[in-house]
Amino acid sequence: MTSQILAKASSFSFRNMFVRESGAAGTGATGAALVGVGMESPDTLVSFRQVQKSYDGETLIVKNLNLEIRRGEFLTLLGPSGSGKTTSLMMLAGFEVPTSGEIRLDGKLLNNVPPHKRDIGMVFQNYALFPHLTIFENLAFPLKVRNEGFREIRYQVDKVLEMVQLEKFAQRYPGQLSGGQQQRVALARALVFKPKLVLMDEPLGALDKQLREHMQMEIKHIHQQLGVTVVYVTHDQGEALTMSDRVAVFNNGIIQQIDKPEILYERPGNSFVANFIGENNRLSGKLVSQDGDICLVALPMGERVVARAVNVGQIGDEVSLSIRPERVVLNDAAQAVENRFNGQIREFIYLGDHVRIRMEVCGAQDFIIKMPTSQFDSNLREGDVVPLGWAAEHTHALDPV
Ligand SMILES: Nc1ncnc2c1ncn2[C@@H]1O[C@H](COP(=O)(O)OP(=O)(O)O)[C@@H](O)[C@H]1O
Ligand SMILES: [Mg+2]
Repeated sequence: MTSQILAKASSFSFRNMFVRESGAAGTGATGAALVGVGMESPDTLVSFRQVQKSYDGETLIVKNLNLEIRRGEFLTLLGPSGSGKTTSLMMLAGFEVPTSGEIRLDGKLLNNVPPHKRDIGMVFQNYALFPHLTIFENLAFPLKVRNEGFREIRYQVDKVLEMVQLEKFAQRYPGQLSGGQQQRVALARALVFKPKLVLMDEPLGALDKQLREHMQMEIKHIHQQLGVTVVYVTHDQGEALTMSDRVAVFNNGIIQQIDKPEILYERPGNSFVANFIGENNRLSGKLVSQDGDICLVALPMGERVVARAVNVGQIGDEVSLSIRPERVVLNDAAQAVENRFNGQIREFIYLGDHVRIRMEVCGAQDFIIKMPTSQFDSNLREGDVVPLGWAAEHTHALDPV
């Protein structure tokens, strides 16, 4: 089923015209990134095989990381602070050594290759430009250390300056540019020597919201234009969904799920992913029965909910149900879905383009419904008890939290 959804989703993807699906990774379930040894596809640029990392010899910060990064893709490592994203990136860049396991770039084992020989560009949150060199000289630097001639340097630096729209600033020093402009220089410096791979670790973290959103689009467009492979690290789920072809969701040094943004959102493989990405209503219950992909869950007050059996245990085990706020329908529309209840309205939150309604539903006090303002029934009042419901298709039965 997942592969059908994937195939369907990918046919809409612009990037798909350039990046062929290997079909190997990203089946959507917990631990799905596991890849059989010796099965590397020609589309693979980087592979992590059973990589572990401990700084103190006791605690594993990265636990058995298996990950294939495809040629030309924009892959984001997303997860809370401390989940091992930077450590994974630093091992790929060569600044940290794996405690065990292998990392390959283009099939070649990287373990003993020093950072400057890896053909990888890097962008960090603190731009790390050379303050005493002009923008031109900063950008020329990676080409000089690669022994490029002056003409070639001039040509490549001009080209990359044009790409980040900083042609006029070539003779300035970093201190004479704004934060956003400095970050563009850092981006240009990571790209100027045409590396196979560019790594970015929270590069927009220091910018204000508006500039950050602008730069997200800019980086995404540069990626599309160049077709370079990007591995991007962020803890911001909105940023990850906006920019990426695929997202690997990290928690506790483990990839929880790796997939296209729309699959992570619509088909979370476990409760961590459901809660970390997007907004989510959670109901706890016990598994009553299961028939293939479908299951029945009993809530504490006896209500029964039909759900997709995504990540459930045995009959009688605790289950956490996940329902997105925009998938809940009110009044007449509720008659068309499998799960129908009554809910009491507690509060309206008006947000311009949409309205959020906080309700008490099946014992949950903070059950959120989200609907476009254009569909909102203005006769509704706080305290009203209204029929509501949601489809089994949009109800994910997951591991208990
Ligand atoms: N050089 C280091 N020495 C010891 N512990 C470290 C070092 N770098 C990171 N850690 C620890 O490893 C864990 C993961 O860190 P990190 O990979 O930076 O996570 P993230 O980038 O997801 O926030 C954290 O608990 C952090 O304190
Ligand atoms: Mg980090």
